[in-house]
This record gives sequence, structure tokens and C-alpha cells, in this order.
Amino acid sequence: MARARALATAALASAVLGIALGPGGARADSDLYERRAPRDPAYEASCGTCHLAFAPAFLPQSSWSALLAGRGAHFGLPLSLSPEVLAELESYLATHGNAPGEQGAPLKVTEQPWFLDEHPARLRDGALADPTIGRMSNCAACHAGAAQGEFDDD
Ligand code: HEC
Ligand code: HEC
Repeated sequence: MARARALATAALASAVLGIALGPGGARADSDLYERRAPRDPAYEASCGTCHLAFAPAFLPQSSWSALLAGRGAHFGLPLSLSPEVLAELESYLATHGNAPGEQGAPLKVTEQPWFLDEHPARLRDGALADPTIGRMSNCAACHAGAAQGEFDDD
């Protein structure tokens, strides 16, 4: 029943956010996770070991460029990418990332308006307090099909 409550809360939060943002707000992105990029072995090997290889459509191209440019200090960790792999990732993410939005180059999927809309505060607070989940970037803790790009399974 906790899940049903969470879903009801999510629906309510969506309605409230929808009104607050108005037409053309965050909901314009609501189907972005339906868009699947072809899998890229270099991307999965370089960006899918510490966390899920996030779908390119989850962030604008400008964000992916900023993440790659900042690879020397990626959320506190240095990432080392060979020039060949870097070129491959730049091309893949520029092709399949979202068009640049009005928000510049946000670095976090979990702070995107659509993400906050789908995961309201009560759900996020509960997840952060649960040691088996810990962080919202731990998509697979709640979405069993996350690695396959399935997010509507629960
Ligand atoms: C050595 C481990 C490691 C590798 C490899 C790695 N990351 Fe990360 N990444 C992290 C950590 C740690 C965080 C912060 C997680 C958090 O705060 O929840 C993070 C966060 C992120 C986030 C934001 C997640 C959110 O909260 O929305 C994105 C996007 C991201 N990484 C993309 C990439 C990309 C692109 C690559 C490949 C170029 C990559 N990562 C490779 C460790 C890694
Ligand atoms: C604490 C559990 C939890 C975590 C962690 C989590 N989600 Fe969710 N997510 C949910 C719930 C609950 C819903 C709303 C019910 C549903 O639609 O499945 C949801 C909905 C979604 C949806 C909308 C699905 C649809 O078709 O309506 C997407 C996309 C999504 N999450 C992606 C992600 C991504 C990407 C991550 C990691 C960056 C993530 N989620 C992390 C619980 C979580």
C-alpha cells in the first residue's frame, strides 16, 4: 500500500507542478525516456560502471559536453578517458542528447524538472533515508529494468 500511496502522491505532485509550470513547462519533456538511443559499448564501459549509463535523452547535449569537459573532477572523482573514447562519447552524446534547453547545462539527471516531477519530495526523502537506496541516482534500486531503459515497470 505504501507504493499506492507513493503513486497517488506522484500524481498529485504532477498535477501541482503542471499548474505551476504551465503549458510548455517541464511536461514537454515527459516522454523523453521513451526515446531510446542505440546502445554504445564505449559509453556503457566508460560511464556505466559506477552508476547506470544514463540514457542520453535524460540530459541536454550541453550537459553531456560539460560532464565530459569536467571529467578531471567528476563529482569528486577523476575519470580517465583515452582520446579515442572521449571522441566516441562526444559524438554519441551530441547525437542522442536532448536539444539544449533553457536551463543551460545542468549536471544532474536527478535535479531535472521532469525527474522531480516523477519523483516527488516525499519519495525522495524516503529513498535518501533508506540505506538500501541511499541516493536518487541509484535508479536500479527502484526500477528493476533500469539497465534495459525500462522505468514504467513498478
Ligand atoms: C569512477 C566512477 C564513475 C564513473 C566511471 C562515472 N561516474 Fe558519473 N558519477 C559518479 C559519482 C560518484 C556520481 C555522483 C552520484 C550522486 O551524487 O548520486 C556521478 C554522477 C553522475 C551524473 C549525475 C547523476 C544524478 O544525480 O543525476 C551523471 C549525469 C553522470 N555521473 C554521468 C557520467 C558519465 C557521462 C560518465 C562517463 C564519461 C560517468 N558518469 C562515469 C561516478 C562515476
Ligand atoms: C526511490 C525509488 C526510485 C529511484 C531511486 C528512482 N526512481 Fe524513478 N520512479 C520511482 C517511482 C515510484 C516512479 C513513479 C511510478 C512509475 O511510474 O513507475 C518513478 C518514475 C520514473 C519515471 C517515469 C516512468 C513512467 O513511464 O511514467 C522515469 C523515467 C524514472 N522514474 C526514471 C528514473 C531514473 C533515470 C532514476 C535514476 C537516475 C530513477 N528513476 C530513480 C521510483 C524511483
